Amino acid sequence: REHAFYGTGGQVGIETPPQRHIMFMAFDLTSQNPRDLQVLLARWSSAIAQMMRGETIGQIEPARNSGVGGDTGEAMDLGPASLTVTVGLGPRIFSEAMGLAGKKPPLMRELIQLPSDNFDPELTGGDLSIQACADDPQVAYHAVRNLARIAKATGTAATRWSVLGFGRASAGKGQSTPRNLFGFKDGTRNITEKADFKRHVWINEGPAWQQQGSYQVVRKIRMHIENWDVDRVSDQNNIFGRHKLSGAPLSGHKEFDQPDFEVKDQSGERVIPATAHISLAAHENNQGIRILRRSYNYTDGLNNLGFLDAGLLFISYQNDPAHFETLQAKLGAADALNEYISHIGSAIFFIPPAPAEGSYIGAELF
Ligand code: HEM
Repeated sequence: REHAFYGTGGQVGIETPPQRHIMFMAFDLTSQNPRDLQVLLARWSSAIAQMMRGETIGQIEPARNSGVGGDTGEAMDLGPASLTVTVGLGPRIFSEAMGLAGKKPPLMRELIQLPSDNFDPELTGGDLSIQACADDPQVAYHAVRNLARIAKATGTAATRWSVLGFGRASAGKGQSTPRNLFGFKDGTRNITEKADFKRHVWINEGPAWQQQGSYQVVRKIRMHIENWDVDRVSDQNNIFGRHKLSGAPLSGHKEFDQPDFEVKDQSGERVIPATAHISLAAHENNQGIRILRRSYNYTDGLNNLGFLDAGLLFISYQNDPAHFETLQAKLGAADALNEYISHIGSAIFFIPPAPAEGSYIGAELF
């Protein structure tokens, strides 16, 4: 199917039910001239609109023998494949050096350092982000590749880090719940209702052009698969607080049963342990804080010891970065899952609202 790019309120790729695949890329600015950034955002926007319609962004085989192609060609004939491309602006965009400090969204800043953080600098940060999701991985890849090509050709931004995700690990409205690489259903209690998007995901204050914006947090989280696979399933269930097969909370029977975090067994132990992932992350135990999770499974093949190198490309959207930080601070300190995961990359971006027809993403900055 085909998604609309213009005039959607918030940008596409957030409320959109997650497609099957993702290619994510972060970029560094290579020009401090705001005009260059403006031109890049305009060119990216028109290219994205074309690619989301399943069109090429230029000639594949130019008439002149000497010409390079305007489009690299590999998505030809694959159709729109539900492609959405979401563009984010990193903290350094809103700097004095760029002359854009006055346009900084009020809550935009670097994420605070948490004691559990131990990131690879090469998988961290960035001035621009591109989240391309599609039901065909080649369509997502083609989109990012061609946007990177435009960034390079204009001398405005260079590639910084990227992740290719091969399976959705979150659920949107009307979708069945997929599984992450630990074999558990992921996305059971996610944000799906319009009113909850409005309340928790979209920015509702500040200048008009920031409203329907959002903050995107990206974490590359390695999962220690071999260790997980030799753990007893009863222990795995206690780590998440849910049953592996059904996805039901340990306090219930069916996937969508409401978890009861207080109920105890005969020996007086909590049925859902206090250190279980869902006990620490649930809104009932976090002053009502909720975030939208739109994550994907990824693999980088094998590491240099021959272990499976794979994990979760965790992407969340919220109207205040502190909401992510509050949850991650609790998880980082106490989550039983920590024995089996490492956060290896991190970044934050402001997502401006969708452009009106004829305009482009971020036009109001200039
Ligand atoms: C719930 C997996 C990291 C926030 C869940 C569930 C699973 C899961 C299986 C239960 C099903 C569901 O409701 O979706 C994972 C894995 C992670 C990870 C494998 C890392 C590799 C994170 C991080 C955060 C987070 C970094 C936020 C800082 C949440 C929230 C819930 C949840 C808010 C819903 C809890 C509820 O309301 O019951 N996660 N998660 N998760 N996770 Fe994670």
